[in-house]
Amino acid sequence: MSNSSPPDRHRLGRRALVAAAATTFAMPATAATPDPAITTLPDWSQSLGDGVQAHPYGVPSPFEKHVIRRDVEWLTAGQQSSVNFTPIHALDGTITPNGLCFERHHSGVAAVDPDQHRLMIHGMVAKPVVLTMQDLKRLPRSNRIYFLECAANSGMEWRGAQLNGAQFTHGMIHNVQYTGVSLRSVFEALGIDPRAKWVMAEGADAAGLNRSIPLAKAMDDCMLAFAMNGEALRPEQGYPLRLVVPGWQGNMWVKWLRRLKIGDAPWETREETSKYTDLLADGRARRSTFVMDAKSVITSPSPQTAASPKGQMVISGIAWSGRGSVTRVDVSLDGGRNWQAARIDGPVQSLALVRFYADIDWNGQEMLLQSRAQDSTGYLQPSKNDLRKIRGVNSIYHNNGIQTWLLRGDGICENVEVS
Ligand code: MTE
Repeated sequence: MSNSSPPDRHRLGRRALVAAAATTFAMPATAATPDPAITTLPDWSQSLGDGVQAHPYGVPSPFEKHVIRRDVEWLTAGQQSSVNFTPIHALDGTITPNGLCFERHHSGVAAVDPDQHRLMIHGMVAKPVVLTMQDLKRLPRSNRIYFLECAANSGMEWRGAQLNGAQFTHGMIHNVQYTGVSLRSVFEALGIDPRAKWVMAEGADAAGLNRSIPLAKAMDDCMLAFAMNGEALRPEQGYPLRLVVPGWQGNMWVKWLRRLKIGDAPWETREETSKYTDLLADGRARRSTFVMDAKSVITSPSPQTAASPKGQMVISGIAWSGRGSVTRVDVSLDGGRNWQAARIDGPVQSLALVRFYADIDWNGQEMLLQSRAQDSTGYLQPSKNDLRKIRGVNSIYHNNGIQTWLLRGDGICENVEVS
């Protein structure tokens, strides 16, 4: 295959490729000339470094300054009702560092004083209550790791390959450990009316974002979270209190949570009628599509992360499912013609992200890299074209189709689709 003619970014036929699974660890050959990095003493070995209090709150090495949340300017009219993206292409493991979790706000980041913040719980409840943060922190708490995916993740890709980077195509996701109180324990203490079926959750930001959540889900696994990854929630993630709705679309995870109203019917809010419904090809719309289906993406190599020259290569990616745990991830090097099982490494938990690897020996030829996840219900992540057959291309939300990266011989990746 020639590398000289640029490939059609949007449509590529499947190609046969040669890339065998790596079985041994190839070590670099001994250099012919002495390496100055080993024969001379670098600056940092010749003087004292920073003292312990140089960074009372630690920050990454300046050499990692490119690993940041980024936005796509033309996507939204302004910065307050907008989104930025987790740099998933530059991360490894399963936990997202707090400062890199993508942000989606409808009216900017509310600057909430925790001492003045209140959570009111009312409606079809025997004992309506107003709780302070102190009240909540007296209750028995638990720690749970969950992914949060915005339903609009990959939403720009419905009509074809568009954004050139895993950060932009799949970066509306994060995976952190939450500390908080189970909603069930609070509701049980307050005495829910047996006729109640729904809960409305409302935020204290200027948007007052609100969503109806089935009471059954609230009683199953929802949390009132005040900490993430061991420290207080970040303001961007809803400090001091956010609702955690495991496996369900991010829009329902109300930040700066100030009110929970119990009722017997959904409230039909803006966010569950004009938004977060999925327009089909025939003009009808799916609604109440709360659960995030199984999905995966190769994060490296990917368009923002060039591959090393041919030889041993680690293909790395993430997978998740809102219906259970990820049981298997397959990787294809030839656009879905052949698949091989990837190696999942690290914790495998329900409704949390997993990390997968495929360790290969790359012969330097072009590859069409894909991954597909399977979850504990047996559901297999579909191809984009199979998804479009059912859903059309009018949707913004719930695009969990298989992503393809074209890895060129020079190590650069492009966002493409296979026919
Ligand atoms: N809650 C409030 N109060 N206001 C908001 O704008 N955005 C929602 C949800 N909760 C939002 C909110 C949306 S659309 C998503 S995808 C998630 O928060 C994003 O969570 P994050 O900013 O922690 O990534």
